This record gives sequence, structure tokens and C-alpha cells, in this order.
Amino acid sequence: MPLLTHPLARRALRPFAALVDQRVRIQTRSTSSEIAALRAELDGLRKQSYAVGMLLDRTGRGAHRMPSEEQIATLVAQVSEVSGNPHARRAVTSAFRTVVALEALGVGRLAGGTSNVCGKLATIPLLAPPNPDVLEIGTLHGLFATALTRMMHREGTEPRLTVVDPLIGSQLQPDAVRDNADPTGTPVREDVVRANLALAGASLVPGDGGSPTARIFKGFSQDPEIRAAASDRKYGVIVVDGDHSRDGVLDDLRWVEGIVADGGVVVLDDYGDAAWPGVREAWEAHLASGDTRLEMLGRVATSAFLRRV
Ligand SMILES: C[S@@+](CC[C@H](N)C(=O)[O-])C[C@H]1O[C@@H](n2cnc3c(N)ncnc32)[C@H](O)[C@@H]1O
Repeated sequence: MPLLTHPLARRALRPFAALVDQRVRIQTRSTSSEIAALRAELDGLRKQSYAVGMLLDRTGRGAHRMPSEEQIATLVAQVSEVSGNPHARRAVTSAFRTVVALEALGVGRLAGGTSNVCGKLATIPLLAPPNPDVLEIGTLHGLFATALTRMMHREGTEPRLTVVDPLIGSQLQPDAVRDNADPTGTPVREDVVRANLALAGASLVPGDGGSPTARIFKGFSQDPEIRAAASDRKYGVIVVDGDHSRDGVLDDLRWVEGIVADGGVVVLDDYGDAAWPGVREAWEAHLASGDTRLEMLGRVATSAFLRRV
């Protein structure tokens, strides 16, 4: 008879077997309670991430606002290099919060990916423009101008905005195959731009200081009447973001040469973006003409930063 099945051996081993049984029961109970706890935690995280996704995903705005840690680290390094300012991380973080807040509360959207938009918003104020006059060529819903107003104010300057756009109801781009339906469903109209500028406290009527802090010129940046009206001052900041064709950008650059202040900052949006080759081609042609006082400071994401010297 095998030793372990012998009645005496079985009797002798009974207490140990009972102890093993008890341990296995405890172990199983604690494993299943751990699994239940993990499942509850996962359910909670799923709910949180769904809610955060609704705040930040691309639905209704074209580009999501969920940058990775690496993306932000790259952006901070670029802003820091182009601006030479030690507060690049603060500026990028602040820009990101501003974009999320304004797209949640505003009407419409800011155009462009998160790095592109936050790069412009962070870098412009850090370059310490020589005066508060800002010209944006191509404003879409006016939310970038609104966000820039906030960002410049944070660095101590209350901007005076001039925005130029035909505002014909939808975004105007020369590429006929481009789908002009905006992902927000919001029309590109003057009332929309007004509603958004109001979020930054920008006033379109003369205030206590005697002049409005914002004005909207409805038309093309190539229109002689628009140019005449907008050329009444020298701008500390000019954002070129209207007609993205080579000839359109080149024409804007020639105009910009005459209306940018000494030391003024010019941003060429979508520079180096494969979707808009005309932007880079225009700058290269402009530079090659030899007739420029603009100097390239560098690139942040898909924007080139120039300074008038
Ligand atoms: C890419 S969107 C601008 C986005 C805006 N700057 C932003 O960051 O949210 C381009 C805008 O330029 C406008 N546009 C196109 N051609 C223009 C021109 N010749 N003059 C002024 N605006 C123009 C379009 O209607 C459109 O609203």
C-alpha cells in the first residue's frame, strides 16, 4: 500500500491538509477582491478618460488638443531657442490652457495643430514686440487673435488688434479641391469674429483711451482699400495667415515690409507644412529679391518667425 494512502498517514496529515485548504481559500478570496477593486478602478478611469476626450478630442474642431509629453518638450525647446527667453515652458503651458479654454467657450476654432497654434501663441509675446499693434492677415473665426490678446496681456502688453479677412461665410482658400466645410459648422463671418474678440475684452468702439482696441477689415489683404486703411500705423506684430498660395504670400510679404515697425515680429504661418508649399516658396522668392529688411529668427512647429532689422 502506498505510504500517502495508508490510513495512519492520512490521519496524521489531515491538519496540514486543512491548513493548505484554508490558505488556498484565503488566497482565492483576496485575489478575487483585488480583481474587483482593479475592475472598479478601471471603470472609473474609463469614465474620466471619456470625459477628458470630450473636452480635448478632434470632434468639431479639426485637430485634437491632446499633445504628448515629447511633443510639448520639443515645442518648449523650439520656443526657447527662437525667443532666447527662459520662460518657454510657462508660455507653452499657458498657451495650451488658453487654446482649450477658448475653443470650449468661443465660437468656432483656432486653425492648426496644437504645436503650431501653441508655438505661435507662446513665442510672439516672448519676442517682446516693439509696440502693441498687431495685424492678423486671415483671421477665420478670430479666435487666434483673441488668444494672442490674452497671451500678450499676460506678458504685460495690451494689444491693439487689426484683423483682415473677406469673412464671406466660409474659409477662402485658393485650392479648389479643399473641402471648405468647417469642422465646427460655424460660419466664417464678422459677427462670429466680434463675439470671439469680446472674450478677450477687445473693444470695437472707442473706449476710455479714445480708440478701439480691435478693428475688423472685411476684405482681401490685396485689396487697395484694405491696404490703405490698415497701413495707418506700423505694427509690432504681423501674422501672415491668409492666402496660402506662393503669389498670395509673396504679395503679403511685400506689403508687410512697409508696415512693420522697427524690431517688429512677422510670423509666416504654415511655413514648411507639406500641405502649403507656397508659403516657403514665397519667403525664398522674397529673400532672393534682396529687397527685404526681414531676418529669419527660426521656426517653431510649422511657423517661421522673422524680425525687421
Ligand atoms: C488658415 S485660416 C486663418 C486662421 C487663423 N489665423 C487662425 O489661426 O485660427 C485662413 C483665413 O484666411 C482667409 N483668407 C484667404 N485669403 C485671404 C486674403 N487674400 N486676405 C485675407 N484673408 C484671406 C480665409 O478666408 C481664412 O479665414
